[in-house]
Amino acid sequence: MKIILGPSSTELGRKIAEILGVKAVSIAHKKFPDGESYIRFEEEIAGEEVAIVQSTGPPQDTNLIQLFILADAAKDLGAKRVVAVVPYLAYARQDKRFLPGEAISIQTIGKLLKASGVDELLTVNVHEEKVLEKFEIPAKNVSAIGLLADHFRSRGLEDAFALAPDEGAAGLADEASKILGGGCGWLRKERDRYTGEVKTEERILDVSGKDVIIFDDIISTGGTIANAVKILKKQGARRVYAACVHPLMIGNAKERILQSGAEEIVGTDSVPSNVTVVSLAPLLAEALAGKVKG
Ligand code: R5P
Repeated sequence: MKIILGPSSTELGRKIAEILGVKAVSIAHKKFPDGESYIRFEEEIAGEEVAIVQSTGPPQDTNLIQLFILADAAKDLGAKRVVAVVPYLAYARQDKRFLPGEAISIQTIGKLLKASGVDELLTVNVHEEKVLEKFEIPAKNVSAIGLLADHFRSRGLEDAFALAPDEGAAGLADEASKILGGGCGWLRKERDRYTGEVKTEERILDVSGKDVIIFDDIISTGGTIANAVKILKKQGARRVYAACVHPLMIGNAKERILQSGAEEIVGTDSVPSNVTVVSLAPLLAEALAGKVKG
């Protein structure tokens, strides 16, 4: 197997190749003056099984088109098999028709992955795992919550309470609490489908005097986490931390969360960001390990 260093995830791809002890293939890329993406493989890949590491955080559309071009070109250049390693799968949140007439965008992404020659997808904490069942290619989802919880445990926060900022993240908090051991809980959140505004309902949680870590899959504008931090502080939590797998960190998300009273935000390198601390490389290397033949 060779690891293809997609332009959005060069560093992560290099780390995965290093752990697996396989070759990393560099990609020359640029943008034409009109904004189109140019891609060139800098090494032979004919006859190889390749894993393209290309996360699809902002700018999502550019990163996606580069992924499709890379996969199609890999097959065209003779690659035997293409695994797409896409830690953050863009458009996964648009997994149903919330309002009449809406596009179910993630379905389109699934079709395009197959059409561009991807044989298998490997992703991390996809927003709703069941969307992958509808893909026409095998798709595997792995969880980085263990890595995040281990990070906090190694810093002495082993008894912290794990909180999900909405019901959708309850499974993540539960997973983290099995490593942290300080209990877990969740809040209820509602998003206005027209304005995007988020409202979080207060529930009484057993957090008074405790350290709390909020676990979520994505931080985008920071509104969800900031609301949860304020509720926790009001209920007497001691120190509050935020952990997320995909730190999109749009605009002033970091400041917004810190100003709400959080001590720190910890994200992974799924998307390079100003809060990236934990690397997904060991997790993704392990998931790819079974497929490596050298
Ligand atoms: C959606 O439910 C996700 O799990 C996240 O909670 C959400 O994307 C975070 O968005 P924001 O940071 O803009 O509140």
